[in-house]
Formats: sequence, C-alpha cells, structure tokens
Amino acid sequence: PFSGLSARKPDALLALIALHEADRRPGKIDVGVGVYRDETDRTPVMRAVKAAEVRLADEQPTKAYLGADGDVQYTALLSDVVFGSHRQEPRRFGLQTPGGTGALRLGAELIAHAAPDTRVWLGAPTWPNHAPIFEEARLKTATHPYFDMASGGIAFDAMIDALGDAAPGDVLLLHGCCHNPTGTQFTLAQWRELANLCNVRGLVPFVDLAYQGLGDGLEEDAAGVRQLLEAVPGALLAYSCDKNFGLYRERVGALWVQASAPGLTELVRGNLLALARSLWSMPPDHGAAIVRTILEDSALVMQWRDELDAMRARINAVRKALAAQHPALDAIAGQRGLFSLLPVDADAVASMRDSHGIYMPANARLNLAGLNARNLVAFAEALRPHIPA
Ligand code: LMR
Repeated sequence: PFSGLSARKPDALLALIALHEADRRPGKIDVGVGVYRDETDRTPVMRAVKAAEVRLADEQPTKAYLGADGDVQYTALLSDVVFGSHRQEPRRFGLQTPGGTGALRLGAELIAHAAPDTRVWLGAPTWPNHAPIFEEARLKTATHPYFDMASGGIAFDAMIDALGDAAPGDVLLLHGCCHNPTGTQFTLAQWRELANLCNVRGLVPFVDLAYQGLGDGLEEDAAGVRQLLEAVPGALLAYSCDKNFGLYRERVGALWVQASAPGLTELVRGNLLALARSLWSMPPDHGAAIVRTILEDSALVMQWRDELDAMRARINAVRKALAAQHPALDAIAGQRGLFSLLPVDADAVASMRDSHGIYMPANARLNLAGLNARNLVAFAEALRPHIPA
C-alpha cells in the first residue's frame, strides 16, 4: 500500500546529533543542534525544573485526561511571561501544544482551514523546519530576503521591498527574538514598520517566539512582539519552552491566536480545539505541569529567572570572546540567542568536521553554547583558514 511514497531525506539537524555521538575523537566539538550547554559542555536539567518535578512526583493527584487545550493554568501563567501587561486581550485565545513545532503546525492547520490559498512568507534563511510545517499543512510558501551576510544584520529594506508582492491575507512568519539561524533581531522601530506593513497590505503576522530570555532578557525579548500584536488586528504566536526552561524533549509549547474582533474569538477557539483533538487529542502533560509548577511559586520563579540569566550571560560572553578572535566575526558580539551564521561555506563545514571533529549544519550555523573556555580557541583556529580574506 505504500509504494506511492517518495523517499525523503533525513532531517539534517537531527542527523547531526547522531553523527556527533558516533565520533570517538576526544576533542570533538558539538556546535550543531540548538541545545544550551554550560561551561562544562553539559545540558543539565535546570534546578527549578528538578524542584518542580520532585513536587509533581509527590503531590500530583491524578493522571486523568485534560482537554484538547491541555493545562489551562499553564497557558494562563505563561501568558503573563509572554505578554506582560498586555496579557488581558479578549480577542486572543491560547492553548498548550506539543512544543513550538506543534504550535506552528496547529496554526498552519487553522490558516489552511480558514483560507486554503494562503501564502506564507518566510525569510531566507530561516529554521529549516518552517517550510515543511506550512507545506505539510497544504499551504504555499514564498521567500523574502532576510539576512545581509556582509554586515551581519537584517536586510530590512530588501525584505520590505520583496513583501511588496504579498497579497492581502498572506501570512508573514517572523522570529520574535534571537533569529534562528542568524542571531539577528528587529529593532522596535523595525517592529513598528512591520506592523504598519501588515496593516497597509492586510498581512497576518505569525510570530515564532522560541528563545524568550536568551537574548537580552525576558521583557526585552518580548517587547517587539507585544508592540506588534497591539498594532495589528489578527495574528498568531507560536511559543516554545524548550530553550528557556531547558525542557527540550518534554515538548512544551503554546499557540495564541488573536482574532481581528472579539466576536471571532469563540470561532477560533472552537476550531483550534477541534484541530488539536484530531492532531494529538491532547498535548503531553508533564513538561507543561513543570512550567506551571514553577510559575505558581515565586521562589521557583526567582530560581528559574536566575538560571536563565546565567545562561544568557554565558552565551553573550562566548559571543564577545569569539568575535575577538577575528575581525570577520565582529558582528557575532552584537547578535543574540544560541545561533550565528559563520562567514564560511558548506565545504569549510565539511572540512572542519573531518579534520577537527567540529559538528555544524552545512549552512555554517554555529550554536554558541557549544563553545567554552577549553575549546573556543581551538574552534577559532580550525575556522580561521576558511574565512575568506
Ligand atoms: C535547532 O534549530 O537546532 C532547534 O530548534 C532544534 C530543532 O528542533 O531543530
């Protein structure tokens, strides 16, 4: 029955995890998949998460089913973190999803049901899973320029120019902060301009916020998104707790959809619940229960924020240290989040893997958290011969 299938390539980022695992060289460096690592090259479970898990193990009264919207208290408490003083918005409905990917896919399904001919605009480059998520939901995608390698910044004018071809109702995918893979972020003035563009051209922003707190701080990293949501009628926001709570494999996310009028919220809510029910029935509970347990307790919140601050400080210190190694790496100091794109090609990436056991995706996306005091100089030395003069 399956002979009609066509072969698919394995996901390159996930394949990298196995390749690094299989390498027996002692000095190997994993700067591939987007997972935070501390100075000792480990990804420990955050202390606030451990404390919440102990509490859950002792006190959780039941494992009985929740609804298709998952843990509603989790979503309510998380919306304080995401929206701050903008949390009361009657046009908005949010629900728990399996990771940020589940949120993106559920949002894509909602769009496909509302308007099947919608085109989704993605920047070049973007997270490699963005296009498949929308295309598997039967939506068309289009690409606009995003990154200017020469300056290490956003090609904002070229982006706005290309979006001149977008049609009313098209969706514009935006990274909320800490762009994956370039580490760039919109300024507040650029967020304002994007909101204006959406309003003038009738575009619907779909924000992917997967790194809140890893850039400049929890409030700072959400400021642009909050401003945008305030300024536009309708929008979607996919959220991930993978990185800022270190919950990766637990798959903890949320989707908020802002309808253009309060009267539409109930329609949106009903559709999201029906779609979620058919996709995963209800999201897995454990990770969201951990986040809820932390957010319910001010001492655990303080501990979580301290740990997140330390993660962010370390990443930004690595950024400075690496930028100091070569003038061509200058822009890395001002970029934010786990990733930057290195100014080298796929051959250089392959050669660094073969000769030095350095694991990066072919687009030369560097996970800064894979570097530390012991391997940073070795990494820079391995990179140096590949940087164009
Ligand atoms: C990454 O980009 O490395 C992470 O977001 C992990 C993933 O799911 O691809």
